[in-house]
Amino acid sequence: MEQKAIIVNEEAIRKVLTPEDALDIVEKTWRWYSEGKVIMPNKITTDMSSLGVDGWFNSMPAYIGPMNTAGIKLVGGYGKNKSIGLPYIKANVVLLDPETGILKAVLSGDLISDLRTGAQPAIMTKLLASKTDVVTLIGTGTQAYASLLCMSKVLDMKEVRLCDISEEAKERFAARFPDAPWKFVNCRSNEEGCRGADVIITITNANADLVEEPWVKEGALVMTMGSFREVSFDVVRKADKIAVDQIGQSLHRGNLKELAEMGEITADSFDILIPDVLAGKMQARTNPKDRIYAQIIGTGMLDVALAALALEKVLAAGLPVTEVDMS
Ligand SMILES: NC(=O)c1ccc[n+]([C@@H]2O[C@H](COP(=O)([O-])OP(=O)(O)OC[C@H]3O[C@@H](n4cnc5c(N)ncnc54)[C@H](O)[C@@H]3O)[C@@H](O)[C@H]2O)c1
Repeated sequence: MEQKAIIVNEEAIRKVLTPEDALDIVEKTWRWYSEGKVIMPNKITTDMSSLGVDGWFNSMPAYIGPMNTAGIKLVGGYGKNKSIGLPYIKANVVLLDPETGILKAVLSGDLISDLRTGAQPAIMTKLLASKTDVVTLIGTGTQAYASLLCMSKVLDMKEVRLCDISEEAKERFAARFPDAPWKFVNCRSNEEGCRGADVIITITNANADLVEEPWVKEGALVMTMGSFREVSFDVVRKADKIAVDQIGQSLHRGNLKELAEMGEITADSFDILIPDVLAGKMQARTNPKDRIYAQIIGTGMLDVALAALALEKVLAAGLPVTEVDMS
């Protein structure tokens, strides 16, 4: 039997995949997850730093029932990349025939990963924010760009405040939105960025308290997206509601990891589960005065689903791909 696999490069994916595709697939996949139509073990990290390689990668498998697609994203952060002109985060996605295990495709995962990452805060802000006039981004790198790009499709924003330890990063970031309908504000400190903001999003590779609790106003939404600690413990402790994209991984990763290890955060601490909100099982924000803290950890089901759509679109567009007979 022929075992045909397809290799799809980044160029082909960039020709067909849009932020709207990601917004649609992320919302659907979260809903399917709540409805029990997705199988997704927790991701596993391979940290190579103790053996002298400045990098780590996550293995993120999933099976998406409604798309009958199985696969895995391999995504990591690699310290060397910036110096050789590559983004810090590098991703590839492997898709399999779920019934036979035959390799269906290997896809470059950079745009797939970035767009699904960006779609998450767009959808979550729509559900959780009481207002979106003033949005603060702490960290203005690749993921922040994808986030604001996706947010611009679904939110009305008047002012976007930029905070980053790198002046150059902030300037480069603002230049990527030449026709922005909002005003960019270049902040000199995180405190200046946070005070009075309706939405505060951290998306850095820092492991530090970037946001202090007294800077967060009544009714604000604070979302952390980075892989390590990004806000002081009190931002979480004093939040009226805590929202997450998935329970299991939220207890072992990102900003909540340390609080979970200290026993202060457990599976019962989460008031709002975004997949359940989208499936109509739970309400999102119920009080405009609540300060909501949300963690977006990012899950492999979103990548596998978006990669399956990307493959379909690349093939439908007749773009060049490499075929390999694996038999
Ligand atoms: N939640 C998700 O779904 C998801 C998905 C992909 C990546 N990530 C994580 O997002 C983070 C950012 O990834 P990226 O690809 O945007 O990286 P990047 O290197 O492109 O951007 C990171 C930015 O953060 C800034 N920064 C670093 N330390 C800072 C600090 N102390 N204060 C303010 N700014 C600071 C850097 O100057 C840089 O501009 C990483 O931790 C990555 O692992 C999360």
